[in-house]
Amino acid sequence: MKQDSQIIIFDTTLRDGEQSPGASMNKAEKLRIATQLEKLGVNVIEAGFPAASEGDFEAVKKIAQTLKISQVAALCRTNEDDIKKGWEAIKDAAHPRIHTFIATSELHMKYKLSMEPSQVLEQAVKSVKLAASYTDNVEFSAEDGSRSDPPFLCKVFEAVIDAGATTVNLPDTVGYAIPEEFAELVKYVMENTPNMDKAVLSVHCHNDLGLATSNTLAAIKAGARQVEVTINGIGERAGNTSLEEVVMSLATRPNFFPQTTSIVTKRIYPTSRLVSMITGILVQPNRAIVGANAFAHEAGIHQDGVLKNPMTYEIMKPETIGLSKNNLVLGKHSGRHALNSHIQEMGYNLSKEELDLVFQKFKNLADKKKSIQDEDIEALINEGILRSSEVFSLEYIHVLSGNTVFPTASVQLNINGRKAQGATEGNGPIDAVYNIISKLTNTKSELLRFTISALTEGTDAQGEVTVRLQEDGIVALGKGADPDIITASALAYINGLNRLEYLKEHPVVKPENL
Ligand code: KIV
Ligand code: ZN
Repeated sequence: MKQDSQIIIFDTTLRDGEQSPGASMNKAEKLRIATQLEKLGVNVIEAGFPAASEGDFEAVKKIAQTLKISQVAALCRTNEDDIKKGWEAIKDAAHPRIHTFIATSELHMKYKLSMEPSQVLEQAVKSVKLAASYTDNVEFSAEDGSRSDPPFLCKVFEAVIDAGATTVNLPDTVGYAIPEEFAELVKYVMENTPNMDKAVLSVHCHNDLGLATSNTLAAIKAGARQVEVTINGIGERAGNTSLEEVVMSLATRPNFFPQTTSIVTKRIYPTSRLVSMITGILVQPNRAIVGANAFAHEAGIHQDGVLKNPMTYEIMKPETIGLSKNNLVLGKHSGRHALNSHIQEMGYNLSKEELDLVFQKFKNLADKKKSIQDEDIEALINEGILRSSEVFSLEYIHVLSGNTVFPTASVQLNINGRKAQGATEGNGPIDAVYNIISKLTNTKSELLRFTISALTEGTDAQGEVTVRLQEDGIVALGKGADPDIITASALAYINGLNRLEYLKEHPVVKPENL
């Protein structure tokens, strides 16, 4: 392998990322993220797990039919049904990939699969052969690879490469590996899999010990040529390796890492925001690269240094990841054209109808708020477009509250085209609003979490509310933004209820231990 080769970026935000609790997305939302990932320059997009649910199948199919540049991968267990269904979903893609997996560790084979190693080997080979009969782009993953017996791992990899696998993936499924040890394993696999030159070696790390990025970088150094990542590091449990950390490590330290990627780094920040908006999973402020504080200098001595020469305390330029220095741009008098070009600069491409909708909302907001910032515009896009197919929507809200009255809320909703209105009291204004919405929608979800923050600075800032709801064991997140925090709370609650409805209609059959 050439040490200076380009690393293949395999993004699994739409599959492993969607396994973050409450992060399920609908078809339109997944398509929007997939389109953005393609623009970001991702080489392989794992669009979903078609056998998991009808909703996932439909979303993967739509993504496969739409994307023209990135490869579109479908995850399948090593069985005939999954692989047939997976292929059915991606067969129209310009560059389809079947990704099939089975566990290879002693622990998983014995307790989870109740299979002998020889049976696992046989099933892996059979499935790869079937996948290879559909496409010459087949990936095989040895689940729990980092805890598998290395000689057995190599035996499986050798056999699946002979059967037609063009990528073999070594996952640290439970985030147990330590960088030096993981690098040793990568080297061992490369040296002890005789036909390794016929396939790409990939790694897929989880972040249970906070080492996913370190392990991935160590693997790159040891010779891995594909890395599996997600935006903002979202994913099962503590998440996956984050795309932005790996890509920016390579870009910032070219002397240490001769490898490059095809990622358009200035689209990293808009993509991070989009994923956060759609999934409702907030990015922690101190998160590397994409957190709100990642480029904020608090200490006077640092600020002084940065003014004299940014490189004193900034190892990356904010513009490199698409963070505009001055995002205060639009106001009441800005026209459609200015709004559209700014939206495009932010990384979004809206249709004419979508722009009409966002422009209308922009004008309404500009009446209430003097200066409109990027965060406001993103919230409008989220409100106006990403929520197009909804069961419930808010028509009006009126709240009475204060220190001398009993909080009361009157709300009118549109429920599948029908108007429903009512009023009720509560412990506080938000409680009153949630009580009446729950009554009108006839839903009984439990509010697990409620958070509120200001989208921008200033007292006229929009409030952004995130809720986490649970009903019948299903968890969904909801988000809403508005200058009126009670309205923002109502929008977040309604958004969460819409997501719960979607999940009820599209139940995800979670395959064991994915
Ligand atoms: O973590 C894991 O092992 C996976 C595989 C399906 C690649 O997500
Ligand atoms: Zn995983």
